[in-house]
Parts: sequence; C-alpha cells; structure tokens
Amino acid sequence: MVAVLSPRVCVRAMARGDLAEVNRIEQASYPFPWTRGIFQDCLRVGYRCHVIEADDALCGYGIVSHALDEAHLLNLCIHPERRRARLAESLLKHLVCEARIGEASRLFLEVRPSNEGAVAL
Ligand SMILES: CC(C)(COP(=O)(O)OP(=O)(O)OC[C@H]1O[C@@H](n2cnc3c(N)ncnc32)[C@H](O)[C@@H]1OP(=O)(O)O)[C@@H](O)C(=O)NCCC(=O)NCCS
Repeated sequence: MVAVLSPRVCVRAMARGDLAEVNRIEQASYPFPWTRGIFQDCLRVGYRCHVIEADDALCGYGIVSHALDEAHLLNLCIHPERRRARLAESLLKHLVCEARIGEASRLFLEVRPSNEGAVAL
C-alpha cells in the first residue's frame, strides 16, 4: 500500500535567500510588521529561524531565541492564503522538538488576547 502525502511539507532552516518571500508574508500578515532588517538581524545573531514549505512553496516561518533553559517564539506566521491547513501546527511541533533538544524546559509565545487565531493555536 502507498499513502500519497499531499501537500508535501518540509521544515528547514531559513536562508538569506528566503528573506524576500518571508518579508512579503510578514507585510501581508501584521498591521505593524517586522522589517526585512529585523529578519536579517535574527539570522545574524543566530536565532533559530525556520521556514515551512508545502509542495516547495514557502508558506510561513518561525523565529526562536534561546537563553539558558528558556526558548522564546518571537514570530510565527503563515501566508494568509495558506492558513487553516495545519501548517502552523506542524511548524510549532518542529520548533518545540528542537527547543527540547536544545535543552529548553519552557517555550514562550506572547500573543495579544485579541489574536484569536494565535490563542486558539
Ligand atoms: C496564527 C497563525 C500562525 C495560525 O496559522 P495556521 O497555519 O492557520 O494554523 P493551523 O492551521 O496550524 O491551526 C491549527 C489549529 O489552531 C486553531 N486555529 C488556528 N487559526 C485559527 C483561527 N484563525 N481561528 C480559530 N482557531 C484557529 C484551530 O484549532 C486549528 O485547527 P483546525 O483548523 O483544524 O480547526 C496564522 O493565523 C498567522 O500567521 N497569523 C498572523 C501572524 C500571527 O498572529 N502569529 C502569531 C503571533 S506571533
């Protein structure tokens, strides 16, 4: 038996070449979006920056900073047209696993109470 897995989902480290697309998704998602320079700084200082792809299209990203045994999820975002397909959930699971391997005992994500999607996730 063969199970066809569609879409094909992949989580990988963010590269500088992803920044244009990451920035496009960010600008389309937040009223006060991060600038491209902030993402560049996140890569430069070594934050754990990941992207999620579905069928080779970049659909979202997550940025995590680590300090001692704490990890902070600074940004988690999925392209508006790719939401409610469990992509954020898949990415979050990956980030939690990685934080655990990095010996974090807690992972924080601050969200506004009015951000119903993020709270529900
Ligand atoms: C919050 C966000 C990351 C969710 O991404 P997503 O890929 O749509 O989420 P998922 O499909 O993985 O959702 C998993 C579950 O979370 C809950 N959920 C996610 N978004 C929801 C919403 N808008 N309303 C209600 N429940 C929601 C649901 O239970 C959902 O499961 P279901 O679709 O089977 O009901 C996305 O809406 C987003 O990028 N928002 C803008 C950026 C942001 O606010 N990020 C969070 C703060 S850093």
